[in-house]
Amino acid sequence: MTPDIIIAPSILAADFARLADEAHAVEGAADWLHVDVMDNHFVPNLTIGPAVVESLRQATGIPFDCHLMIEDPKRWAPAYAQLGAYNVTFHAEACADPVALAKDLRAAGTLAGLAVDRDTPIEPYLELLPYFDTLLVMTIKAGFGGQRFMPEMLDKVRTARRHADAGHLDIRIEVDGGIADDTIEAAALAGADAFVAGTAVYGADDPAEACRKLRALAQAAVARQTRSDSGGTTV
Ligand code: DX5
Ligand code: ZN
Repeated sequence: MTPDIIIAPSILAADFARLADEAHAVEGAADWLHVDVMDNHFVPNLTIGPAVVESLRQATGIPFDCHLMIEDPKRWAPAYAQLGAYNVTFHAEACADPVALAKDLRAAGTLAGLAVDRDTPIEPYLELLPYFDTLLVMTIKAGFGGQRFMPEMLDKVRTARRHADAGHLDIRIEVDGGIADDTIEAAALAGADAFVAGTAVYGADDPAEACRKLRALAQAAVARQTRSDSGGTTV
């Protein structure tokens, strides 16, 4: 069964010398492992590439949610699908023809994700959503972990959620950046249903427990909202 809420710890906040152990630490508590790929061009930071993803795939069964913060995703993204990523997300700002690349990714057997960075409006991309399985709304400026959550980004989540619901689209809306105990509820109430958390998970003493707490907070927020919505319509 598809979980109602996805918790995706970001390995950007993990110990890169112990990536396999860090993945094992969230097995059973996380739904996806969020793998931030940065190329030192699209963003100033530099992380890992296909070789590390390939090795890490052998070390854990958690589905990989690859977030490509790279230029020229058309050239590189399909490789992550071939390496067995569950979802491959590329940035709208880096791609001239997002729909064509989404089709390539789906054909390669992975889910296709579209990311919009902090300064990118969502409206031009709403019509493209039927071609995607996930929409990643950055709640910081892409490039580094540990930044402060920007609540104003949730307007994009609300707009996308309204559009997705109105069109009965089967799409996850994922938020990435500054997601923690004190921000996940607002993101869930705005309509996000997949949550990336780096610092909040790998900065915690018990990463699995941190995942469980984040999930409980998001679920409770949605449950309260559902109750108050149905209460509001009962006469
Ligand atoms: C940053 C990455 C995020 C990052 C989030 O550009 O896309 O996935 O790891 O880290 P936190 O949760 O610390 O903001
Ligand atoms: Zn990310």
